[in-house]
Amino acid sequence: MKVAIVGASGAVGQEFLRVLDERNFPLDELVLFGSSRSAGRKYTFRGKQIEVKLLQHNDDFKGVDIAFTSAGAGTTKEFCETITKHGAVLIDNSSAYRMDADVPLVVPEVNPEDALNRPRNVIANPNCTTIQMVVALKAIENLSHIKRVHVATYQAASGAGAAAMDELYEQYRQVLANEPVTVEKFAYQLAFNLIPQIDVFTDNGYTKEEMKMFNETRKIMHSDIQVSAMCVRVPALRSHSESIWVETERPISPEEAREAFAKGEGLVLMDNPEKKEYPMPLFLAGKDPVYVGRIRKDLANENGLTFWIVGDQIKKGAALNAVQIAEYLIKVGNVK
Ligand SMILES: NC(=O)c1ccc[n+]([C@@H]2O[C@H](COP(=O)([O-])OP(=O)(O)OC[C@H]3O[C@@H](n4cnc5c(N)ncnc54)[C@H](OP(=O)(O)O)[C@@H]3O)[C@@H](O)[C@H]2O)c1
Repeated sequence: MKVAIVGASGAVGQEFLRVLDERNFPLDELVLFGSSRSAGRKYTFRGKQIEVKLLQHNDDFKGVDIAFTSAGAGTTKEFCETITKHGAVLIDNSSAYRMDADVPLVVPEVNPEDALNRPRNVIANPNCTTIQMVVALKAIENLSHIKRVHVATYQAASGAGAAAMDELYEQYRQVLANEPVTVEKFAYQLAFNLIPQIDVFTDNGYTKEEMKMFNETRKIMHSDIQVSAMCVRVPALRSHSESIWVETERPISPEEAREAFAKGEGLVLMDNPEKKEYPMPLFLAGKDPVYVGRIRKDLANENGLTFWIVGDQIKKGAALNAVQIAEYLIKVGNVK
């Protein structure tokens, strides 16, 4: 098994190195790619130093079985043909092809089989906020069909990449040192602030990030579910949090939901208000599962339920989900 990571120097690329190692992913050779900014840099994987190659239009992907790409939508679109032409399965973290009808959009806890039907040999990893939400929604959908979702997200700085995380650290240092604050990766200073905009605005007043949650959830769940999202950048470093309200066809009690979450795949129930136990991003960075807490009846809707989730968006929201897709393909014998 030969595996490639495109965008190895990035926040998601670095997580791929950790996740592949942690999960003992069955690979014989790993190749790393980047732009001229990181080409030549070396990263250690399982005790061996691997040099980052410059991503180019050549035959470097000959013999590669699985290519994990996390280098932005533009890079995926430009290099898709180069990466897949010799037979590699491309599992992409960007938004390039997520909504294309001939590209499956996969979260292994929800729709693994979709990965088997990939006419272009491309599989898309959903948006990070959508991934962690659908893992939780699946547990409820198994009880009663979800008609509507309202969700407010609290998204960490690292969702905008490695440099954005560094910028947040630097902003806190600058504020405390009474220095002018550098603002490059976000529209405004994020330290000591909240920014109610992620990605650009669309014609209906929602941002692209919010529309991803609407469209991608429907595609992954094969459902007519309606999702109204409000996405907010918060000055947490890592792990996204989401406050979710669902309306189901029949009323679901908090007890029933708790039981479903407790046994739901990829979920951990953390819901003990008396002991002040609930998920928080500071303490769940680097963890695999999606954590669920604050489960209660919606006071404004007879068929409503509300809860709070936290998941590491670089892990389950990106690298881990992609690796789980690859593991599924290997398990069912759909890739070498
Ligand atoms: N961060 C998250 O939480 C998260 C979650 C889900 C999905 N994603 C998606 O994953 C992708 C990467 O995000 P990130 O957070 O890891 O960003 P990042 O930290 O900014 O890293 C970007 C990576 O892309 C590489 N790259 C850029 N242009 C390239 C090119 N022309 N050729 C080869 N490599 C190129 C960079 O390599 P150089 O250093 O060599 O330029 C770098 O390794 C994005 O599409 C993002 O939307 C991110």
